[in-house]
Amino acid sequence: MSTEATHRPVAVLIGFMGAGKSTVGRILARRLGVDFIDTDSELVRRERRPIPEIFTDDGPQRFREIERDVVLDVLESHHGVVALGGGAVMTPAVADALAGHRVVYLRISADDGFERVRGSDRPLIAGDDPHERYRELLAERDDTYRRVGTMTVDAAAGAPGVVADAILELLAAAPTPERATTT
Ligand code: S3P
Repeated sequence: MSTEATHRPVAVLIGFMGAGKSTVGRILARRLGVDFIDTDSELVRRERRPIPEIFTDDGPQRFREIERDVVLDVLESHHGVVALGGGAVMTPAVADALAGHRVVYLRISADDGFERVRGSDRPLIAGDDPHERYRELLAERDDTYRRVGTMTVDAAAGAPGVVADAILELLAAAPTPERATTT
C-alpha cells in the first residue's frame, strides 16, 4: 500500500460526534506505524482553553474559523492519521481541502452515537432535548459526510480494533482516493 509518499496524511477520519474517530484513529495509526493527531485536541492545545469555553466566549462562528485554520495546518503538515472534529467538514474550506485525501467516513446511527456521547460536555447537543438535537444535526450532515468521504465504514461494526481493521482493508484496496464502503 502506498502511504506517506503519495498521501499526506495517510488517512483522515470524519463523522459525527460519538462515531469513535479518535479511538479508532489512534488504533489505526498504531497498526500503520504512524503518528495520530486529533484536530480537536490540537485546537485546545493551541487555544489553551476547552471547546465549550470557546463556544461560550467567542461563539460558534469563531470556533469554526479557529477549527478551519487548525485543520488546514494539520492537513499540510501531518503525515499520519488525522481525526477531525465532527463539524469540521461543514466548513467549505475544510471540505475543499480534503479533496485528494483518503477520507474515511465513520458512520454511526443516531441511537448508537447518542449513547456514546450522552452526558458529555459537547456544546452543540447541550439543551433540553440532546437526543433530538443529535438526531437532527446528524441528519443535516450525513450527505456532506458521504460526499466528502472517499470510503465509508460502519462505526458500530464491532470494537474499535475491528473498525480499525475494516479501515485498513479499505485503505489497502483503495490506495488512491476512490469510493469504497463496508455499509
Ligand atoms: C463538534 C464536534 C466536536 C467538537 C465540537 C463541535 C460538531 O468534536 O469539535 O464540540 O460540530 O460536531 P467530536 O466530533 O470529536 O465530538
